[in-house]
Amino acid sequence: MYKIVEKKSLGPKQHLIVVEAKEVSKKAKAGQFFILRIDKYGERIPLTIADFDPKKGTITSIFQEVGKTTEKLAGLKEGDSILDFVGPLGVPIHVEKYGTIVCIGGGIGTAPVYPQARALKEAGNKVISIIGSRSSNLLFWRDKMKAASDELHIVTDDGTEGVHGFVTDVLSKLLKDNVHIDKVIAIGPLPMMKAVCKVTKPCNIPTTVSLNAIMVDGTGMCGCCRVTVGGKVKFACVDGPDFDGLTVDFDELSLRQRRFTKEEKESLLLYRNMLEKASKDKGECRCRQ
Ligand code: FAD
Ligand code: FES
Ligand code: MG
Repeated sequence: MYKIVEKKSLGPKQHLIVVEAKEVSKKAKAGQFFILRIDKYGERIPLTIADFDPKKGTITSIFQEVGKTTEKLAGLKEGDSILDFVGPLGVPIHVEKYGTIVCIGGGIGTAPVYPQARALKEAGNKVISIIGSRSSNLLFWRDKMKAASDELHIVTDDGTEGVHGFVTDVLSKLLKDNVHIDKVIAIGPLPMMKAVCKVTKPCNIPTTVSLNAIMVDGTGMCGCCRVTVGGKVKFACVDGPDFDGLTVDFDELSLRQRRFTKEEKESLLLYRNMLEKASKDKGECRCRQ
């Protein structure tokens, strides 16, 4: 069992958890992820290692409630335990001195981009970070991102903080201002990563994206996380999750990500109904158990 030693809210439906996972924390590197299963009835879901502390033996992750398993995870408290916690999985990022790197985190994508920005800055790169969200209340880790960057730009869709617009507006402005960029790393929702690649492709700037394909085993055996990169079939769990964004087939991935939507909706509905029934049976409000 893996104990949750810290849990806090980072905004509406956004949570940070710190889990005691000694072996995983000893081997974790930037760019990797883990797969958890809350209990014996649960499904397996991948989450990125947003931070790790081998001395304390902990892994930090930030997640957004989007369906049944993430809602259930959000309902756990400090002191509760997770049944399975497998990792670190995936290929760590390649850290070297590239020059100037732009690290872009969209929404929850700021969490996985943080350890990458930190590792690349430690390797002597100039790191320009851009973090964006729909609104100010969804932004988090401004201080950590500032510390991991030489320059930090904040963007919100509704203009409640920083630049009013999208992360691509700031990236385009940097290019327009002739800022020399050697590499771009973009992590966030698929449409955002696709839009970033649309900006960098004409300038031929190497661009890495993190593909959140649906995963089951996380070891390259089931084929569930199949993606097409550069016309070749890759498995996001063992060949990625980071890939050359300029050659990713985003449209195919977007279709594949939606292939269980009906079942996911049904599963969430069943879960919520079960909670409601349990709360009625007890005659008290137990909306988060
Ligand atoms: P559901 O209603 O079951 O699904 C909602 C959507 O999430 C689906 O339409 C699908 O696109 C996606 N999804 C569902 N099941 C899986 C699955 N087994 N594997 C991958 N995607 C799935 N989310 C975060 O909030 N924080 C992270 O740090 C994070 N890191 C990730 C790292 C990787 C390598 C991958 C592949 C995904 C990551 N995700 C992360 C996405 C997260 O795994 C999904 O949001 C989660 O599985 C949704 O489960 P659910 O039951 O709550 O929602
Ligand atoms: Fe099964 Fe990648 S999750 S092959
Ligand atoms: Mg699910």
